[in-house]
Amino acid sequence: MRCAALIAAATLICLAGAARAEEFGDVYAGQVYVKDVCAPCHAVQPEASMSPKIDAPSFAAVANTPGMTRTALTVWLTTPHPTMPNYVLEHQDLDNVIAYILSLKND
Ligand code: HEC
Repeated sequence: MRCAALIAAATLICLAGAARAEEFGDVYAGQVYVKDVCAPCHAVQPEASMSPKIDAPSFAAVANTPGMTRTALTVWLTTPHPTMPNYVLEHQDLDNVIAYILSLKND
């Protein structure tokens, strides 16, 4: 009986984790999106540090900037910047892209 209760609890924790991850966007979908849209200027792969456009930071560097948060990325990506094209990212794309960038953070 105890064992069954433990399994039930573990399942619940797993389900809660999956739901949370979804809320913060889909890392894989974000990767697909940035490869398509952002890669002409930014190094988007975890191991890449040199961006095609020299003054665009690699996404790994962005992710590892101290204090980098979902909020900071949301602000950056929803306000105009002279050095970057203005993107209108749909809400879901925005979440996915941010989830992908933050996944490059080294723990
Ligand atoms: C035409 C080239 C170009 C494209 C395409 C582009 N960027 Fe940028 N991006 C830049 C440049 C240049 C900078 C540096 C701007 C600065 O510091 O003023 C920058 C800066 C950034 C920063 C801020 C980094 C920091 O230090 O805070 C983020 C985040 C970012 N880009 C995300 C994206 C995302 C996500 C995409 C795709 C949806 C994208 N960029 C597409 C050129 C580009």
